[in-house]
Amino acid sequence: MGTALLKSWLDAGVSPSRVSIRTNTPESAAALAAAYDVYASPQATYTGQDIVIFGVKPQILPEVLPQWKGETRPLYISLAAGFPLAKLHAAIGESAHITRAMPNTPSMVGKGMTSLVGHQAEVITALFEAAGKILWLKDESYMDAAAAIAGSGPAYLFHFAEALIANAVALGFSEEDAKLLVSQTLAGSTALAEQNDWQVASLRQNVTSKAGVTEAALKVLMPELTGLLEKALKANIARSETLKNGG
Ligand SMILES: NC(=O)c1ccc[n+]([C@@H]2O[C@H](COP(=O)([O-])OP(=O)(O)OC[C@H]3O[C@@H](n4cnc5c(N)ncnc54)[C@H](OP(=O)(O)O)[C@@H]3O)[C@@H](O)[C@H]2O)c1
Repeated sequence: MGTALLKSWLDAGVSPSRVSIRTNTPESAAALAAAYDVYASPQATYTGQDIVIFGVKPQILPEVLPQWKGETRPLYISLAAGFPLAKLHAAIGESAHITRAMPNTPSMVGKGMTSLVGHQAEVITALFEAAGKILWLKDESYMDAAAAIAGSGPAYLFHFAEALIANAVALGFSEEDAKLLVSQTLAGSTALAEQNDWQVASLRQNVTSKAGVTEAALKVLMPELTGLLEKALKANIARSETLKNGG
């Protein structure tokens, strides 16, 4: 996720010389330095940067936070899912400026969706707007749901595409042709929805003639999908709860 944001920020004009990345392994540091011309090292330490971003898994965060205890100068941004502001403040300092951000991987191409909560600053809004669109949440209690919908959302949509491609192959198309049929359908549908202010119900109805073939398929799909998504989102949010409790 950190790499996706880095890419969009560099594309938006942030100078690589302003970026310092602490990695876990020398190999990933070397790969980042080679790919983006930034400073990256497992030994990277704080050298007065304005913004410190935690891009590690929530399970790793408790190992990383103690070195920041009492350091209240930077603006902190945590990307960690299910890791509350209260725990971040307890580890760093009650007066520290901390924001939780829940971006998604389309940030890599400037089409990200980031939910934000905590300390609000123009520079944070600007950073995440450089990577796509943002939503400041009115309350942290919405963060897990926002994460379940938009943070994880690309994975659901990619899986939908995978399933459609697999079914196209099962119907006799080559992998390449199946991918073309599905990818252009998804890209075209998204563009059409965008042009129509996401009036998706009416766009669906436009494709669905009475007693036609699409209707036959939707009769199978529609009763299942909403309930299935509800279950999937609940599982996502429940996992966030477990992570919050240290598991
Ligand atoms: N994936 C998503 O779509 C998504 C969306 C929203 C938010 N998030 C959040 O973003 C965070 C990162 O997720 P991810 O999927 O990008 O994870 P990831 O691919 O595993 O990346 C984690 C990064 O953390 C580094 N790291 C691991 N241990 C470290 C340590 N002790 N010190 C310094 N760096 C360390 C790793 O460096 P090495 O490469 O050197 O091991 C790696 O670059 C998570 O908190 C997740 O909740 C992810």
